[in-house]
Amino acid sequence: MALSKTLVDELTKRREAALQGGGADKMEARHARGVLGARERLETLFAPGTFQETGLHARHATRAFGMEKKILPADAVVCGVGYVDDRPVAGFSQDFTVAGGSLGDTHARKICHIMDHAVKAGVPLVGINDSGGARIQEGVGSLSAYGQVFYRNVLLSGVVPQIAVIAGPCAGGAAYSPALMDFIIMTRREASMFICGPEVIRAVTGQATTMADIGSAEVNAAVSGNVHFVAEDDKEALAIVRRLLSFLPSNNMSDPPHAPGAALNLADDPALDALVPEDPKAPFDVRAVIARLVDNADFLEVMAAFAANMVIGFGRIGGIVTGVIANQPLVKAGTIDIDAADKAARFVRFCNAFNIPLLTLVDVPGFLPGVMEERRGIIRHGAKMLFAYASATVPKITVILRKAYGGAYLAMCSQDMGADKVLAWPSAEIAVMGADGAVNILYRKELTEAPDPRARAHELAEAYRAEFASPYLSAGMLFVDDVILPGQTRAAVALALRGLLSKRETRPPKKHGNIPL
Ligand code: HXC
Repeated sequence: MALSKTLVDELTKRREAALQGGGADKMEARHARGVLGARERLETLFAPGTFQETGLHARHATRAFGMEKKILPADAVVCGVGYVDDRPVAGFSQDFTVAGGSLGDTHARKICHIMDHAVKAGVPLVGINDSGGARIQEGVGSLSAYGQVFYRNVLLSGVVPQIAVIAGPCAGGAAYSPALMDFIIMTRREASMFICGPEVIRAVTGQATTMADIGSAEVNAAVSGNVHFVAEDDKEALAIVRRLLSFLPSNNMSDPPHAPGAALNLADDPALDALVPEDPKAPFDVRAVIARLVDNADFLEVMAAFAANMVIGFGRIGGIVTGVIANQPLVKAGTIDIDAADKAARFVRFCNAFNIPLLTLVDVPGFLPGVMEERRGIIRHGAKMLFAYASATVPKITVILRKAYGGAYLAMCSQDMGADKVLAWPSAEIAVMGADGAVNILYRKELTEAPDPRARAHELAEAYRAEFASPYLSAGMLFVDDVILPGQTRAAVALALRGLLSKRETRPPKKHGNIPL
């Protein structure tokens, strides 16, 4: 007995109507601007044919403002599960062509349902934001609906990776859902993200500003640090999501997608020996070191545009997915300032939550000196790094390339902060402070009386470097496990990572620590 034609036709008709979204004309206008539709975005993210939609037939229940007559296909959000690299991933994508992608009760229930699925099934969540925000016709109900989403963002945090794409407007409180997620990718041409727009700012403060100044992808990525990646368009944004997922486990109970089958390359890499300048003050690009350490030079740098004095990102070393944190001597001489500390600390916590081992590359002359740094709370922010590293129980390997001075030495995961292995290059200088500063304090009187103070200072600094800052002093005191040639680093780190994969470290039970915020 076959299903009646009437039933089949009705299903077809309903599906077709719902799949129309806001209509062909609105979709064409988007395509003309090079922008994908909500469903197309998810279909682009997932492997062909794997997207299973849920809630296509959703209906809102609003009766005010003539809404009872309005049909909003799928209630302006497309939800479901698809596959990325053979692993299931949950996703939602707001449909701006329907009521401006605005969020009301039904819309939020759909998002919450897919979030609940993500946490139950232990799969990552990708949320694509393109919305005018709270649905005005639903009043306070739509605020409550946002609250339901935020609440789940927090429940999911640390359980499954959450990735937000900002692909259109993301205004007001709506920006807090992406902000509660782990990574934000923003498109350059179409997207904006802000709490108070230019008009509100002008009305309240009299300040004239533009969207480019407060809500653009560039500003969010480089100035406020809200955004982790900037993409030119939808397709590039979704490619970044896939690449990011390729380094992440599906949930906090799983290992990241290591490739342990890869043959270990234990050969020396002489190119690394050549990378370090002879002059300890000469800058070099730490990204060149990272590129030589990670497999196939494949490094996904995170927040590249923000606090560039700290480099963070994902790579595989000998097949093992690793989170890399490195001082960048090219920018602010590699000092740690407030933004760099925040950037590193949050990344360390993400990696720890998702079982990703940490490699810390140290070349740090100290925390950035400055009145504003002190007044804005470098103590509080620098403490985040200490807190994050000391709380992290994943394998932690530290390589001291050159300078490792003072509190910054500890903030970059010294042995005392729980590093499982600390290696140093022969060029390492590990001390309370740099040679020049130390000599000026220790020998102030002698230097003022010396016939040639500069020459004497240089002599004393050399002696200080050799005697107090030498890596062999630290190795002799067992703060450093070994001193190795730069060219031996790749093999040493790869072997150490493999050896530490079975690491288990338990701490006294507690609700949570009180990280300085
Ligand atoms: C209901 C909305 C809407 C909203 C847009 N629309 N935003 N409907 N609630 N919040 C509808 C419009 O009425 C229009 O419907 C369609 O979506 C497209 O909107 P346009 O204005 O024509 O589009 P565009 O010119 O591209 O401008 C986009 C926009 C603008 C910049 C996003 O629509 C806008 O400013 N919207 C309001 C944004 C806002 O203030 N939202 C509240 C933020 S506060 P038709 O039927 O004509 O196609 C917030 C609080 C969250 O969200 C709190 C969480 C705690």
